[in-house]
Amino acid sequence: VAQDLAGETFLITAGATREKIDPVRFISNRSSGRMGYALAEAAAARGAEVTVVSGATSVAPPRGSHLVNADSAEEMRAAVMNQLSSASVFIGAAAVSDYRPKTRLSEKLKKSTNSLTLELERAPDILGEVSKLRAGNQLVIGFAAETNDLLKNARVKLKEKNLDAIVANDVSQPGAGFDSELNAATFLSADIERELPLMPKIDIAHRILDEIVRMRQTKREAPKSETVAAR
Ligand code: C5P
Repeated sequence: VAQDLAGETFLITAGATREKIDPVRFISNRSSGRMGYALAEAAAARGAEVTVVSGATSVAPPRGSHLVNADSAEEMRAAVMNQLSSASVFIGAAAVSDYRPKTRLSEKLKKSTNSLTLELERAPDILGEVSKLRAGNQLVIGFAAETNDLLKNARVKLKEKNLDAIVANDVSQPGAGFDSELNAATFLSADIERELPLMPKIDIAHRILDEIVRMRQTKREAPKSETVAAR
């Protein structure tokens, strides 16, 4: 394998967060962690230093990377912030809860009433925060799992969160996305739209890394020309 990511330090989030309702219950989602782990394994094989901040997953941990476990979005955020300054590439592949219970009960909730309303509040947007803190040549890449208007919604996120790129996943497509060995996606940046047809997640991972290598080459060259122009 070409060591085309030697010298890069990847920080990757993967898996699902769990937001506690009470000591035995939580809100989560169907993410298996496969896509994030595939990216970690592929990046490590290509020479990068890799740290994975992992929520709940149902697959074996990636070879060749440093693993940090996180349960809730809040914990994942803290772990990411701890590692961020040493990362040259951040990839948010985790399915982070958008909402969490507003209060967390310290004792198991008993059944009594016929209906129950659970009040939720927004969880921290890790990718959004990372993007705001970005420094120097850091690349910040997100994922967008959508069931409708995939590319349109992904482009909005790319812009709103000021990302270098976003991987748009159609999770309604049979055989792809959540909990599958396969995935189909579109890699989007301001000037790239690369379709990645249905293939194993490890192959998708390598194709995403190919794009990152290309973006890195242009991003490295950019500041030099700006400096020249300023003078
Ligand atoms: O806006 P949306 O949640 O669809 O964006 C998905 C992207 O944002 C993914 O890269 C995911 O890892 C990241 N995300 C996050 N924190 C959240 C929600 C999503 O980092 N609370």
